[in-house]
Amino acid sequence: MSHTTPSDATSELDTFSPIAWRDGTLHLLDQTLLPEEERWIECRDVATVADAIRRLAVRGAPAIGVTAAYGLVVGLDGLGESADGLETRFDDVYRRLLETRPTAVNLRWALDQGREILERHRSDGIRAVRDALLERAQAIHQHDMVANRRMGDFGADLFTPGDRVLTHCNAGALATGGYGTAVGVITSAYRAGRVGQVWVDETRPLLQGARLTAWELSRQDIPHRLVTDSSVGALMSRRLVDRVVVGADRIAMNGDVANKIGTYTVAVLAARHGVPFYVAAPLSTIDPRTPTGDEIPIEERDSQEITSFAGSAVAPDSTLGQNFAFDVTPHELVSAIITEVGVLGPPFEVSIDQAMSNA
Ligand code: MRU
Repeated sequence: MSHTTPSDATSELDTFSPIAWRDGTLHLLDQTLLPEEERWIECRDVATVADAIRRLAVRGAPAIGVTAAYGLVVGLDGLGESADGLETRFDDVYRRLLETRPTAVNLRWALDQGREILERHRSDGIRAVRDALLERAQAIHQHDMVANRRMGDFGADLFTPGDRVLTHCNAGALATGGYGTAVGVITSAYRAGRVGQVWVDETRPLLQGARLTAWELSRQDIPHRLVTDSSVGALMSRRLVDRVVVGADRIAMNGDVANKIGTYTVAVLAARHGVPFYVAAPLSTIDPRTPTGDEIPIEERDSQEITSFAGSAVAPDSTLGQNFAFDVTPHELVSAIITEVGVLGPPFEVSIDQAMSNA
């Protein structure tokens, strides 16, 4: 498939990553503090890594996968040179990381690569296992950045000059190894002169849109406006949205897509108003073990994320919230899935199967 080559202009933002392996240690940008403060967390044990994933200091499916891959290395550090306990320690670290968030499939995808490495290098000793795990984590990290640039190139071809594009949650550099999936596509399309404006919905309850996507677009000087989640219908009925592009936490083999709560609502509205609805995600987000969206586990988070805001109650003490972190958009509502190997169209059962078999 041919695609427009966007401007080659790159900036430090093209190489920015929220995850860094520096001086033998994992560093994570604490996204809970953005946009006010840019503070990095130094992870010296697996508990710190697991805690960072659980409380969304690092978040977004691909970023969680990259972090988990490095987390295995962090978890084995300090074990000494003896092979005694390697297996037990690996199992413990694997389980502690896997338990953090259930929906983003990139987590298990990355951890399972670590398990294969353990099996292959076990007889060579701890040092060899640890070094091979680090090498794999760095490769996963690097590959994710490259995949996102490719997605950007493929996705930009779907846009026409002046498009007003809406995105939900944050699927930018912060949510990945770098560059972003949905925001990466928007960036590439903007550089190709095809985006007039981005609509950013705030993404209740944790405001990934307002705090993170708006922060990323501001840093790149991409024109954008922030709207409440409930504005999407009004925007579309006024014909102010030309396209939607979102990321994904897990894509089933039939093309059903789990993503941040509220994505399904946006997709229904897009179908009602004839607005193309694109999902941008790497192949690592497609789960061969999940046939349909019905099998995707949906994370439920603390009700207090809804009943309070920035530490202050916004509901009576006795009121409980129901906090689904994700929802599932059925494949019929998805116009195309933008991946690093090209743009997949319906029927997704066929296009996904082909893309996965050729990968
Ligand atoms: O709860 P979060 O912030 O981890 O949810 C993130 C999303 O829903 C993203 O859209 C998805 O992970 C894709 S990130 C490229």
